Amino acid sequence: MTAEKDLAPLLEKCFLFDATEDSYEMTGITGRIPEWLRGTYYMNGPARFERAGMRYHHWLDGDGMICAIRFGADGVRFTNKFVGTTKLKDEEAAGKFVYRGFGTAWEGDKLLRGVMLEPPNNVSVYPYNGKLLAFGEQALPLELDPVTLETKGYYDFDGALNEVTPFAAHAKTDPTNGHLLNFGVSFSMTEPMLNVFEFDPHGELVRRRRHKLEYQHSVHDFGFTQNYVAFYLSPLIMDFARFWGEGASVMESLKWEPEKGSVIFVAPRSAKEPGFRVEVPPCYCLHLINCFEEGGMVMVDVLEMDRPIYVEYQPVPDLFPTASACRPVRFVIDPVKKQLVERIAMSYDLAPDFPSTGAHLQGAKYDAFWVLGIGANGLPGRKFFDQLVKGSWKAGDVCDKWIAPAGEYLGGEPVAVMNPANPEECVVICVHSIPAEDRGEYLLFDGHSLSTGPIARLPLKNKIHAGFHTSFHFD
Ligand SMILES: [Fe+2]
Repeated sequence: MTAEKDLAPLLEKCFLFDATEDSYEMTGITGRIPEWLRGTYYMNGPARFERAGMRYHHWLDGDGMICAIRFGADGVRFTNKFVGTTKLKDEEAAGKFVYRGFGTAWEGDKLLRGVMLEPPNNVSVYPYNGKLLAFGEQALPLELDPVTLETKGYYDFDGALNEVTPFAAHAKTDPTNGHLLNFGVSFSMTEPMLNVFEFDPHGELVRRRRHKLEYQHSVHDFGFTQNYVAFYLSPLIMDFARFWGEGASVMESLKWEPEKGSVIFVAPRSAKEPGFRVEVPPCYCLHLINCFEEGGMVMVDVLEMDRPIYVEYQPVPDLFPTASACRPVRFVIDPVKKQLVERIAMSYDLAPDFPSTGAHLQGAKYDAFWVLGIGANGLPGRKFFDQLVKGSWKAGDVCDKWIAPAGEYLGGEPVAVMNPANPEECVVICVHSIPAEDRGEYLLFDGHSLSTGPIARLPLKNKIHAGFHTSFHFD
């Protein structure tokens, strides 16, 4: 801990504990769960940071755990289980950490085929092709049983990918045709490449496009529209000489070089044509909010950070000590003139992250989005998410929020689930950690009335870790 004021008391109790795998009917639920909410919520996130006396340094290092909440006519069932990665199996057998982490490296640590991280598949979880897939950074997804969460094995899209294919954690489904889009960066000192994949709803590869990159950018997320894919390329650049040559972690091998500038790269989704770049302020973007086309323009909506955020994911559990301002920004891009037409920034800058717009609005015109924010952002010292916020482009800013009581935290992308029969009705789900009482719960909100507080509270038998990304699958 640093000497600054502790802006996140007891945060260690949210990270440093042994997660309990379980499956049970949730009892003690208070409030009201809308009857139309029938299906399963999924969340992935790191849930083990210590083994055999060793502690991981970085939030991204922890082993992935899936939490599921099944909302049925006969009740609500919670199930959580670690993702059965090669990493987890080998380390369980060895009784200690074996593989280098994103932010933790040590003498004698191992890599996958000696070249890349053996992934913990701890970032996201999405239903696809009748399966449930757990994704990691630059890794093959793992197929899970959607009910028991038992791991079935690595999923390679019928042989289209292999264990070293670069494949990001932010796969996205186009609601208009069920296609799954994703990307991966081929790191190379001489010819770094951006790969863009599109699969049909049944697992068949429709196309793979390759675009040359100027630098070995660290890229976590992307956006798509009906005709384009869009990437925010920040000057956070991977130095493989350090990673391979010096045994450094990914975190130690990433260099922030703002003098190289930031660009938004837009490429046709299907046509075999090169993309184009537009220059934007030299900021960092971890997550895009959404993209869509309107009036011949491509809207690229992002969470724009003054500086990279990965350095703030350490040291566990003292996170976000010096997190920079971050704000929702819309870039209006003319794809014919290949020019940036306008940059529209919201004023809310309390480190918003984990944006959600509703799955049926991916790649389509939308107005509202939901994010988590950090109320103490801007002050030095560890801190964590404690605001649930709704932003609206029509309103031009954040228009609704709920703030957790002091010393309590929120976690997991606040997934927005819209009533299929009436998309005006929206429920937002997130994790609420109460470390002073050593417990946690899930909260359900009316997405259009956050400030009135949760509409339902779902107590957890065992506390869980703050997760990363989430999804909801209707029955
Ligand atoms: Fe992410």
